[in-house]
Amino acid sequence: LTSCSCHSSSFTIILCLKLSSITNAMRSKPNFVLLMADDLGIGDIGCFGNDTIRTPNIDKLAIEGVKLTHHLAAAPVCTPSRAAFYTGRYPVRSGMDTSVGPRVLMTLGGSGGLPRNETTFAKILQTHGYSTGIIGKWHQGLNCETRNDHCHHPLSHGFHYFYGMPFTLVNECQPWSHSPFYARLSSYLGISSQMAVIAMVSLILISYTNINSMMRKFFNLFCYWDCLVMRNHEIVQQPMDIQRTTLQILVEAHQFIERNKNTPFLLFVSLLQVHTPLVSTEKFIGKSKHGIYGDNVEEMDFMVGSVVDAIDHVGLKDNTLIYFTSDQGGHLEIKDGGSQTGGWNGIYRGGKGMAGWEGGIRVPAVIRWPNVIVPNSTIDEPTSLMDIYPTVVHLGGGELPNDRIIDGRSLVPLLKNQTSHSEHEFLFHYCGTNIHAVRWHQRESGAIWKAHYMTPVFYPEGAIGCYDIIICACEGKHVQIHNPPLLFELSSDPSEAKPLLPYSEPKYEAVISRIDLAVAEHQKTIITVPQQLAPLNNMWKFWIQPCCGKFPFCWCSISSAQYK
Ligand SMILES: *[C@@H]1O[C@H](CO)[C@@H](O)[C@H](O)[C@H]1NC(C)=O
Ligand SMILES: *[C@@H]1O[C@H](CO)[C@@H](O)[C@H](O)[C@H]1NC(C)=O
Repeated sequence: LTSCSCHSSSFTIILCLKLSSITNAMRSKPNFVLLMADDLGIGDIGCFGNDTIRTPNIDKLAIEGVKLTHHLAAAPVCTPSRAAFYTGRYPVRSGMDTSVGPRVLMTLGGSGGLPRNETTFAKILQTHGYSTGIIGKWHQGLNCETRNDHCHHPLSHGFHYFYGMPFTLVNECQPWSHSPFYARLSSYLGISSQMAVIAMVSLILISYTNINSMMRKFFNLFCYWDCLVMRNHEIVQQPMDIQRTTLQILVEAHQFIERNKNTPFLLFVSLLQVHTPLVSTEKFIGKSKHGIYGDNVEEMDFMVGSVVDAIDHVGLKDNTLIYFTSDQGGHLEIKDGGSQTGGWNGIYRGGKGMAGWEGGIRVPAVIRWPNVIVPNSTIDEPTSLMDIYPTVVHLGGGELPNDRIIDGRSLVPLLKNQTSHSEHEFLFHYCGTNIHAVRWHQRESGAIWKAHYMTPVFYPEGAIGCYDIIICACEGKHVQIHNPPLLFELSSDPSEAKPLLPYSEPKYEAVISRIDLAVAEHQKTIITVPQQLAPLNNMWKFWIQPCCGKFPFCWCSISSAQYK
C-alpha cells in the first residue's frame, strides 16, 4: 500500500488519494509537528492560568492532549536553549553557551554556530524515512568561512527544507523596511559612487578597529543586514518585511504539510512571536487587553491553531504528535515607554536570562497525540525541552547516538501512562558555562529540591530583574555566590519565596551534600569543546555576512516568496 500509480480516470485518482491517506493513518510512525514560541512566558497562556489573554487554540490542544506543568528549558536565552533542544544535550556539550560576553549569536556575519558533528533529531529522522522541515527562526549560525558556505545552515543539520530567518528578530529589523524613505535611500545608494566609497571605507574601519559596533549601528540605519529570509540556500528577502514574513510562515507550514502528507514528516514551526519588535498583522493590532504584547501573543496562538487545523484538514490528526512550547521565559526587563513588551511568568520568580530562577526556564508546554495521550491530562513531573530529542527519535524508529551523552529522556512512557515518574533525577541549570542552580527530584519522597549556587544581582534594589543591563549576566559582579547554597522545595514553594535555612531545615545538610555529589559527577562528563560563542566566533566579519546582491549593497525581494 505504500505506492500507487494514478493514471487517467478521475475515479482512480480519487481512489488513490483515499488509499494514500489511509496508508498514512495506518502507519505506525507518527508525524511530528513541533511548535516553539520565542520568549513566551508560562503566565501568558489561558490553560496555564491566564484569564485575560485569549489563547483558545493552545488551550484546545491542552484539552485534547496533555499539559506539561513542569517543563524546563536547558538555558534561559535563545541560542543555547535551542541548541539543547536540537541536540538533546546541555548546550555546554556542543560549545553553544558562554559566560564571557553575549550568550547568543549576535550576527549572521559571525562564524560560530551549531557544530557539524552534532546530530540533531532531524538528522536521525531523515535516515528513517522522514521528510524534515523547519519554518521560522533558526539562530544556530550560518557560515564558517565564506558568505555562502552555509556550514551551520539547517540543511546541514538534517532538515530537507528551510524557510525563514536564519537569524532572529531584533529591534533593528523593524523601522526602515517599512518606510518609504528607506526605499528611496536604497535606490540612491545603489547608484551613488560616493556612498559606495563611504561604505567601503567604513567596512574597513569596521573590521579593523574597535568602533565596530558604532559603525554597524550606522549601517543598520539603512538596512539591517541580518534581518533576512531564506528559502533553503537562497536569500529571498533582505531586509525582511516582518508582517509579510509572519503570514508567509503560515503559508509555508500549510504547503509543507500538503506536500508531505503521504510520507512521515517532522515539521518544526519556529515562530517569530513573541520576541521584540512586536510586529503583528493588521487583524490582531489593538485587539487584546495587553497592548502590543498581548496582540502578538494572540496572533501567535492563531498561528498555532492554523497549523493544527492544517493537520486535521488533511486527515492526519490521529497520526500526528503536536508539541507546543517556548524557548525560555518572558523577558521582564524590556518595556516600551512603560508598556509591557515582554512576557509574564505567572507565579514564577525571574525571567529570560536568569538560569536559576524558575521564571527564566519554566515554560508552557502541551502535547496532543490522540488515542495515545489521555485527553485533558497533565504531567507535573519535571521534564525538559531536551526530552523531545529522544522522544521523536524513539517514535520515529531511530537510535540515539551512542558516542556521546544525551541528557534528554524519552517522554514516551509518561505520555503513554506507563509510568508516573520522569527519569530526570537531577537537572542542572546553567547560566553560560556556570551551574547556577540544580534541581533534585527525590524519588522516594517526591520532593523537588532546588539549590542555587549563584543568583543574579538585581537592579534597582528590590526589583526582580537586571534593569541596568537589560538581561542578567552569569558571572563576576553581576552574580551573588551563595555558600551555603539557597535551598527551596518547589512543591511547597513554587515561587521560591522562602529559602530553607541550614539551621531550621533538618534535611538541609543531607540534601545539599547529595546535590553537591551530583554536580561533581555531572562535571566529570563535561569535556572541553570549541567555543562557538567565543568573541572571535561571535564577531562580525564582512566576508561572512550573507548578502543578496553585491556586498555591501544587500537588497532583494524575490517575488516567488510572496504571500499569496
Ligand atoms: C495574562 O497575561 C498578561 C500578558 O502577559 C499579563 O499582563 C497578565 O498579568 C496575565 N494575567 C494573569 C492572571 O496571569
Ligand atoms: C565535535 O568536534 C569537536 C572538535 O573536534 C570535538 O571537540 C567534539 O568532541 C566533537 N563532538 C562530537 C559530539 O563528536
